[in-house]
Parts: sequence; structure tokens; C-alpha cells
Amino acid sequence: MKVTVVGAGAVGASCAEYIAIKNFASEVVLLDIKEGFAEGKAMDLMQTASLNGFDTKITGITNDYTATADSDICVITSGIPRKPGMTREELIDINAGIVKTVSSSLIKHSPKTIIIIVSNPMDTMTYLVHKTTGLPKSRIIGMGGALDSARFKYRLAEALGAPISDVDGMVIGGHSDTGMVPLTRLATRNSVLVSDFLSEERLNQVKEDTKVGGATLTKLLGTSAWYAPGAAVSGLVQAIACDQKKMFPCSVLLEGEYGLNDICIGAPVILGRNGIEKIVEIELNDAEKAHMKESAEGVKKTNDLLAL
Ligand code: LMR
Repeated sequence: MKVTVVGAGAVGASCAEYIAIKNFASEVVLLDIKEGFAEGKAMDLMQTASLNGFDTKITGITNDYTATADSDICVITSGIPRKPGMTREELIDINAGIVKTVSSSLIKHSPKTIIIIVSNPMDTMTYLVHKTTGLPKSRIIGMGGALDSARFKYRLAEALGAPISDVDGMVIGGHSDTGMVPLTRLATRNSVLVSDFLSEERLNQVKEDTKVGGATLTKLLGTSAWYAPGAAVSGLVQAIACDQKKMFPCSVLLEGEYGLNDICIGAPVILGRNGIEKIVEIELNDAEKAHMKESAEGVKKTNDLLAL
């Protein structure tokens, strides 16, 4: 199993690290345009192998896509991160050009690859890859929902005073400060609805904290987060590599599901060796449907800015 991660910044390096530590991939190629940077990150990570007990071989390369040839999975983290006070959507001008070039270079050398998009604005970048590469929709996956759901579980566990392993929940919709749809109604603590433990007011707070999860970290760190994004990607990569048939909310091209068409947005999918093997349609209530519709309108507005 060969995995390429494009962009050796904090997010890309975290992805490579978590993938390696989980020890399911034979090879991770880290590629960056900055001379020597990916090579340095790869060497540093390889020097943790004996300490962390993994056999995955990580190599770094400066902008030479021949080194990525025949990758089973490629992760695109390239582009610029937002600064405090910015929205993800403001990154579209710079990141769209980068993601378009990177995805076509990857596919040239790995025509059978599955692509995971991390760069922001993530749903629109996923749509861009869909529009410009001709890859089947099963092989184009936007990472956002997996990350947003991890943040949702963190906030739920905090509100419940419970360990995170007790908590289950999911965020669908767009990966934006307003577009996320945290499904508080369906979230559980060991099969018991969290609404049995938490007031509506507290659950609304959890929802709001989840939606601004990335912005909160960007304010604290001065740039966007990397540990949870890296871990979320590694979960998706592992589900595909190990054919786990796991369900994650991911940005996927919808063709009628959830009443939406011609848009990539977060919905639950089953991930296995073929990428997205199924889109799962869950019954939403009227408020959730309205929120999903509003979220899609926001994503479409950003998609309209693409020069397609
Ligand atoms: C995140 O949610 O951490 C990423 O999308 C980066 C960001 O800008 O918040």
C-alpha cells in the first residue's frame, strides 16, 4: 500500500506521521515544492520509527511526481492555511490553482489512485477535483466531516464529563464555520441519546463550539490546526487501505441524495478498498433538512467562484 501526501507542512507531516504510526502502509511519499523540506520532514519522521515501532517507509521528495507513481491513495494538503479572523472560503483564489495542478500531476502518475482532499475551502476543492479530473466520484473524498465529527465528540464528552470513548456522533454538511450540521439529536453516550443527559441549551452550545472548532484553534495557534486534521486523514486512509467498510461523514458528490445535486458536501459514506462504496442516507428532521439546504447554498456560492 503506497500513500502519497502532497504538502509537507504541519498538516501533511501529521498525516504522514499518523499513517506511519498505525503501521498499515508499506510506503508514504511526502512531496513539497519547497526544496529539501519534504526530505527533511521524512528523515525526521523515519528517525522516530524505532522509537514508535513502525515499519512504514517514509520518503520525501521536492516536487518530483514520478516518485509518487502508482500510489493507491493520494492526500492533498497543499495550499495556504487561513490566519485568525479569516474564513476558509477566503483561500479559494490561491488554493484552487494549486489543487488543480497537484491533482492532475498525481493522476498522471497514479491513474488508479483514490484522492483525499484536505485543502480549503475543502468542499469546493473536492468539487474542483471532481470537475477537472474525470475520476469516478468513488475515488474523490473530502476529509472535513471526519475531522468535524472528532471535534463534535470532543465537545460532547466535555459537556457530559464523559470519556470520549463513551460518545458517538456525526457532523454532516459543509466544512465551514456556518455550514456544519452537527447531529445532536442522534448523538449517543453508550447507546443512550445525549439529550437524556444534556439540556437543549447545552447541546446548542456544543453545536456552536463544534462549528467554530477550526476557527477557535486558528485564533489560539495563529494558523490552522494540524493534529486532528492529520489524525482524521489517517483514519480515512486506514479505512480504505484495510478495506474496513467504516462509516465516516466525508465530502462526496451528491446526485439526488439529501435532495442535493451537483455538489460535494459532507454526508455519511462507507469507505473500503474502492474508496466511497456507498452513500448512506439518514432520515433528517425538518430543522436538520433546512440546515443542510442552507449549508449547500453556502457551498454552491463558493463553487460559483471557481473558474470552471
Ligand atoms: C480545520 O478545520 O482545522 C481546517 O479546515 C483548517 C481551518 O482553516 O480551520
